[in-house]
Amino acid sequence: MDILIVGGGGREHAIARSVKKSARAGRIYCAPGNAGISEIAECVDIRPMEFDRLVAFAKEKNIGLTIVGMDDPLVGGIVDAFEKEGLRVFGPDKKAAIIEGSKAFSKDLMKKYNIPTAGYETFDNADDARGYIDGDISYPVVLKADGLALGKGVLICNDREEAHAGISQIMEEKKFGDAGNRLVVEEFLTGREVSVLSFVDGTTIKTMTSAQDHKRAGDGDTGPNTGGMGTFSPSPFYTDEIHNICMKTIYQPTVDAMKAEGRPFRGVLFFGLMLTGKGPKVLEYNARFGDPEAQVVLPRLESDILDIMEACVDGRLDSVDLKFADNAAVCVVVASGGYPGHYEKGKVITGLDYFDGKENEFCFHAGTAFGADGSVVTNGGRVLGITAVGADLKSARSLAYEASGHVSFEGAMKRSDIGKAIDEA
Ligand code: AMP
Ligand code: GLY
Repeated sequence: MDILIVGGGGREHAIARSVKKSARAGRIYCAPGNAGISEIAECVDIRPMEFDRLVAFAKEKNIGLTIVGMDDPLVGGIVDAFEKEGLRVFGPDKKAAIIEGSKAFSKDLMKKYNIPTAGYETFDNADDARGYIDGDISYPVVLKADGLALGKGVLICNDREEAHAGISQIMEEKKFGDAGNRLVVEEFLTGREVSVLSFVDGTTIKTMTSAQDHKRAGDGDTGPNTGGMGTFSPSPFYTDEIHNICMKTIYQPTVDAMKAEGRPFRGVLFFGLMLTGKGPKVLEYNARFGDPEAQVVLPRLESDILDIMEACVDGRLDSVDLKFADNAAVCVVVASGGYPGHYEKGKVITGLDYFDGKENEFCFHAGTAFGADGSVVTNGGRVLGITAVGADLKSARSLAYEASGHVSFEGAMKRSDIGKAIDEA
């Protein structure tokens, strides 16, 4: 079966690698892909939002399954465009992807179905939002742009002044574009954060092994929010007991709620959780693999990814086994200097050949391209995700940092404390 993967980041590189391992994979294409992905897939110069061209390509190449990695095309209805033409595609359709595309939708869903989450109010104009934050509320408070904002549309405001500035930025200056047409103001939660990804076929849910992301740009969780600066898997704080609570109060109720709303979810459903003193609560849903969660979860996947994905598409996930290795993985993201703010592109990357033939160390390309002379150059904010797999978290972490020392480019930066929480477990 020939496969088309839509996207071109570290997540799609990790997906491509898992697909390549499948006994059933034929040719693998990736649109648009990147320099690293081109080693295992044929990169196709079509943008992820060019649905008509992607559909035409899938027909021309007789693609057996298209896998959509990214949020924008999913929320924009790429799955509907493929299904309309009778093409097989893995991912939620537009009416289900709204669970990520609108935070107001997801908050209202959780409220309606009693799924534990932070208390909130939704506003569609700045004056009402200002009236609310001037009232009798406690700080810090969390402001969230309703729509997609590359994982950056969340502001944690410590006092009224910061909240006023945040409301202006999101709703008036439109710092996150139209994503800020509506605003969710949310109660601030404290606890350990965990990401749990799952496969869903509309009815049945099977969770993957847990992970933890590091969203802030700087060491010690300081600086602005990013797409994610590194991950480890599993989370030692996500016990079997917590898993069982989540299955009963969050995972299955969410899948049932989407079905009851006439929006059955098929694809990867990502639960961003906070393990609070009052039990696990949902911070956010995503309608796809996390990035860089995929870079630590997928290298630990033992099942054939195509078998699982096809079972989701066909609504028979209950009949397949989802297995992960009893080991651990850590991913350290190497980013361009200045990210998540302004950064330069086109810096030559050296040391990539270190990873050739390595079994437990992977260099997932997030933002890379080929320069005019054929060398691999930086082409994004997050450039590489260096993942190592080990028997346990500590050995995976030291191997990931050791491996990340082999690659370099001008202005490269990485956090030095990915996985620090492991020491507190
Ligand atoms: P989100 O995109 O909703 O996951 O938010 C990005 C990050 O902001 C999360 O990973 C948390 O670290 C933080 N965050 C979001 N919502 C809350 C909340 N209600 N309380 C505390 N931190 C939050
Ligand atoms: N790493 C978080 C996300 O993919 O949204």
